[in-house]
Order: sequence, then C-alpha cells, then structure tokens
Amino acid sequence: MNAMTTFIEGLPKAELHLHIEGTLEPGLMFEIGRRNAIDLPFASVEGLRAAYRFRNLQDFLDIYYRGLQVLLTERDFYDLTWAYLEKVSKQNVLHTEIFFDPQAHTGRGVPFATVIGGIHRALLDGREKLGISAKIIMCFLRHLDQDDAMETLDQALPYKDRIVAVGLDSTETGHPPDKFKDVFDRARREGFLAVAHAGEEGPAAYVWQAVDVLHVARVDHGNRCLDDEALVGHLARTRMPLTVCPLSNLKLGVVKDLKSHPLREMMEKDLLVTVNSDDPAYFGGYVNENYRAVQQALGLTKGQLYGLARNSFRASFLGPLEKEAFIARLDRYVARNRA
Ligand code: ADE
Ligand code: ZN
Repeated sequence: MNAMTTFIEGLPKAELHLHIEGTLEPGLMFEIGRRNAIDLPFASVEGLRAAYRFRNLQDFLDIYYRGLQVLLTERDFYDLTWAYLEKVSKQNVLHTEIFFDPQAHTGRGVPFATVIGGIHRALLDGREKLGISAKIIMCFLRHLDQDDAMETLDQALPYKDRIVAVGLDSTETGHPPDKFKDVFDRARREGFLAVAHAGEEGPAAYVWQAVDVLHVARVDHGNRCLDDEALVGHLARTRMPLTVCPLSNLKLGVVKDLKSHPLREMMEKDLLVTVNSDDPAYFGGYVNENYRAVQQALGLTKGQLYGLARNSFRASFLGPLEKEAFIARLDRYVARNRA
C-alpha cells in the first residue's frame, strides 16, 4: 500500500459530520427491508447502486428519504449504527459526532424513543467493545416548518442527556437558517449546542445567518463562505469550525472535480476545517477515503493531514481534557510516522 494511504489509515481522527441514515449500505437496506416486509423500488443491490447518480442535493435527498423507510424497529437503528461504528473503528476514528433526522422517522409513525434507543444502545456497545467515543446531534429538517421542529424538540427533551446539539439539514435553497430562529433559541436555552448545514448549495448569507441568528458552534459544509471576504475573516478570527465533506461535494455537484475543491484555500485562509464523510453509503467513501481523495487531488502533505486531524478533535464537542488526551495520542502517532 502507498505510504500516504497507510499514514491516513493509522491517523487518529474524529468525524464530525455524519448522517447515520446516510451510512445505510445497499446490502443492509435490502436485508432490513426483507426483515420488515418493505418493498424497495429496486430489484437488486446493483440496481440500487446504479441509481446513485445525483445532479444536486435534492436528487440525493429523494433517494435518501426513500432508503431510510426500511428502518422501523429499535434493532434496525442499532444494526445501522453498529455497522457504521465497526467500519470506522477500523479507520482509526476515535470519536464521532453522529447526526440523525428524527422527523424522517416520526413522520412515518416510528416513535422518537425507538430511533434514539437503537442509536444510543449501539453507541454504548461501541464504547465498550470498540473503544470508540461518540455523541449524538439531532437535526431538524429545514424543508418542514418551524412548528414541526418545535414538536420534535419537545420529543427530544426527555433524552437531553443523550443529545449534545441540534442541527439543521435537508433542502438548503429556499430554507434559510433564520426560518428556525425560535426553535434554535429555545434549544440553546434548554442547554443544547447548535450546528447547521450552511453554504453547501446556499449562499454565504446563509452562513452569516447560521452564525448570527442561530448562534452555531460549528458550520456544516460552509463552502460558499469563500464568496464573502468579510465572512471568511470573521470565521477565521472566531475559530469557527467548518465540517467539510469532499466526496459529498463531488457527488452532489457542489464542486466540478476534487482538484477544484476549496479545502486548500480554506486552510490557507486559516479556517478551522475538518474532513468528514456526510453520507458515506451514498457518496463512495467513509472518512479515510475522503482524506485520501483530497490528499491526492490537492497534494496535501503529512503535516497538513496532521493539521486536519488535530482540527477534528479541537472542533469536537468533547471537554478540554478529552481533547488534549486525543491530541496527545495523535501527536505520538505523527512523531512515530513522520518520515
Ligand atoms: N441530509 C443528509 N445529508 C445531507 C446533506 N449533505 N445536506 C443536507 N442535508 C442532508
Ligand atoms: Zn450533511
């Protein structure tokens, strides 16, 4: 194996932008679908994979919301989460912060408790059996209205100790962050941190709103911030983390190829960027494949890869001592593998 690939594989890292429903591999989708007697509009795993060609975010979301309908029971959510943890523990992901979309399930009659119960139980097993640390972030679907998000927040309150933050995802264009000001205000008063997808397809103005109106602690994607120099300055000065997802950007047409991916420019502008997989079952790679793809396309050095992995711990919602311990482990790895 190529030396850079080996270096990336062993690199201790955190993943901060990962939709658990986006880790549903075709094989598991068919297996769970069979178990629950739910027909998929595809004859085979190959047929399903062939449909994974997206012109934009909405094309992808249409398939993503179709696929997740096989998930019904606590065991389904457990199996889904466990499969992800097993994969990324082999990729040296030491800590992961996982999004889930409760409304995509409660809207189909699956109780909130079933969803959070299965995910949480898998995370407990992940810590015990794989030594992987994890947190859960609950996203509101922005194509739905704020009242629906409020109801979802009500349902989440009994599980406050299991959910570190609220987020905002789904169709970005036409659904600016300020549509959700009140529910984010309330969530923060209840003690949740906040994150939001912004500047994936939407304009730099949406990134400003995520920061100024929703008071996010991280911006998910954020690519379009580069259109606004004042915004870039602000994000750099405030050390606002951006959770960047290179293969997702490629597959959804946010960038035309990886050589023109803005990650390098973001690093040069001193932004606190991290590399993540978003929806790995749909975009052709987990977190290490994302590191590898940008390393190759942008010619990143080991020093720069180290910087990205370090940022992943810094930008996490871990406490300061936990961050320090993970970064010390990363530093030891890099000292041993620098040459
Ligand atoms: N839901 C799952 N993946 C998403 C993405 N990349 N952007 C917005 N919503 C999503
Ligand atoms: Zn995402």
